[in-house]
Amino acid sequence: MQYKIVLLLLATAFCFNYLPEVEIDLSAPPRQRWKESVRTVLDLYGYDNSFGPVFEFHNENTFYILTPEDYTTIAKAIRKNFPEYSLELEGIVEEFNRSNITFEYMAAWAYFHEIGHITNDVTECTGVLLSIGDQVIHGRNMDQYPGQARNIVLHLTIKKDGKYLGESVDWYWFKVGFVTLLKYNVASLEENWRFGNALSKDQLLTFIQQGVPSLAWAYRDVLVNEKLNTFDKVVTYLENNQVACPLYNIIGGTGKDQGVIISRDPFENYPTISLSSQPLNQNGFKYLVETNYDHWLQDPEDDQRRTIAENLLSKMQNNLLNEFGVYAVMDTYPIHNEGTFYTVIMNAKYNRLIAFGQPSITLSDE
Ligand SMILES: *[C@@H]1O[C@H](CO)[C@@H](O)[C@H](O)[C@H]1NC(C)=O
Ligand SMILES: *[C@@H]1O[C@H](CO)[C@@H](O)[C@H](O)[C@H]1NC(C)=O
Repeated sequence: MQYKIVLLLLATAFCFNYLPEVEIDLSAPPRQRWKESVRTVLDLYGYDNSFGPVFEFHNENTFYILTPEDYTTIAKAIRKNFPEYSLELEGIVEEFNRSNITFEYMAAWAYFHEIGHITNDVTECTGVLLSIGDQVIHGRNMDQYPGQARNIVLHLTIKKDGKYLGESVDWYWFKVGFVTLLKYNVASLEENWRFGNALSKDQLLTFIQQGVPSLAWAYRDVLVNEKLNTFDKVVTYLENNQVACPLYNIIGGTGKDQGVIISRDPFENYPTISLSSQPLNQNGFKYLVETNYDHWLQDPEDDQRRTIAENLLSKMQNNLLNEFGVYAVMDTYPIHNEGTFYTVIMNAKYNRLIAFGQPSITLSDE
């Protein structure tokens, strides 16, 4: 008698998910502006499968250096320097209606990224700019932890005085700003983590008290400031605004070869690199990639995302010189990795933003 061994392969099919969409009306009373966003996440996933574990994780990994006095210091500075944002944060606190989600706690979250520069370095993210013909296509992956923050990601459309200004996709919209933004008819923008000069808690608290805005508020300024109505003006603004931690701005424009990577640090200046000064590659197009390391340095051995993306782009076939091609690069491991929450493809020339909620992806050697 012959026994057949049946191997049952349990395959898990991962797929992207559609992100919940919410409209933000910046003409509404400030306390009301973000309540629907909070409610949308809580209704869909519940606190214990969204904000709860995210807050717990970052209390342990990001905010542990803050004393109760530090929370008060940050809260006071925001109330003094950013009264409108303070009201918005208060509205979010009201909507949570939980005893330990206080204004002080949300104020610290407003500077989440800056505080993270003192306490952790788990942040990744990749930005790609592909210049083809008269368009610049912008790919953006957001990588973060913990996984439950995927359930907080929203696709926001922002309007003011009845006019639609742009779109954003993010999980930390509850700091009332943006780190991924399409400003209609002007630019696509992405902020990435940069490993720069060391930052101490005292230095950061001093910046915050001096009124240096959260980095997410810089893009909010870009969005609402009607004078920042061209790619070049946005670039000049983001080369010169005050920042409280190291970061990169990856920006695509509406015209031919409009694309830059701006490297920022509170203590030092660096040259901006741009698509327009790149040579055409042998197939007649240009690209730039940014992860978390300066362009004049090699990728570290253990994080080759930029090198891998650049290799894929350099060999890109003619029929992929479009949004599909950029998506394919963004979806390749390890550019799409364990921590990737979403992929956004933006095209400022056509005011197009395409968003995918991404599952975790891990390379398997078997
Ligand atoms: C609120 O308190 C509970 C119990 O101590 C804790 O588990 C949770 O992480 C706290 N939430 C915040 C936002 O600090
Ligand atoms: C806030 O929660 C309490 C119970 O903890 C409830 O009695 C109250 O109605 C809630 N307030 C709002 C505005 O939802």
